[in-house]
Amino acid sequence: MDVLKKLEKDKDRFYFLSKEAADYILNLMKARDVKTVLEVGTAKGYAAILFAMNCESVTTVEKYTQQYKTALDNILASKLNNIKIIHKDFLDLDLCCKFDMVFIDGNKGETLACFKKALKFVNNDGLIIVDDIEKKKHRMEDFLKYVNNFNHMKLNIGHGLAIVNPLH
Ligand SMILES: C[S@@+](CC[C@H](N)C(=O)[O-])C[C@H]1O[C@@H](n2cnc3c(N)ncnc32)[C@H](O)[C@@H]1O
Repeated sequence: MDVLKKLEKDKDRFYFLSKEAADYILNLMKARDVKTVLEVGTAKGYAAILFAMNCESVTTVEKYTQQYKTALDNILASKLNNIKIIHKDFLDLDLCCKFDMVFIDGNKGETLACFKKALKFVNNDGLIIVDDIEKKKHRMEDFLKYVNNFNHMKLNIGHGLAIVNPLH
């Protein structure tokens, strides 16, 4: 897809989900039959578009106006009609539905707060995935300690991933 290729060459590529992490998550989504995804932190829409090509629907939340507008343009260019983008701070968001997977990739210093909030939005057998746990570990020490209360794995893939089965 042209828009994905364009984003893979983007000057901000290193902020997006890495290729290795994307491959791992897409395989996991297939194995776990993930149909619905909630993403915290859209940026330019790279991961949202990738996930949407591999599941039924993606809801993605972006706080900042410039990123929101750029992501909206990229989502429209992708011609995918299964992505809902919400322009809001995730920490102020109220949703009535739950998702098979929540992907947390927002402000790293807010990871613990986002994780606690994400617990309300995940289905019984669902997953919460947190990106950048290696690259940005100094900004999420509280989360990395707290997650030990849950069934989880920490993987050195891409920028580091935490895969959490919160309700098991
Ligand atoms: C690392 S980038 C996301 C990259 C994207 N997930 C991808 O892989 O293509 C982080 C994004 O999260 C957004 N963000 C930070 N804190 C947020 C919050 N509390 N709610 C929603 N978006 C947030 C930032 O504006 C930024 O665009």
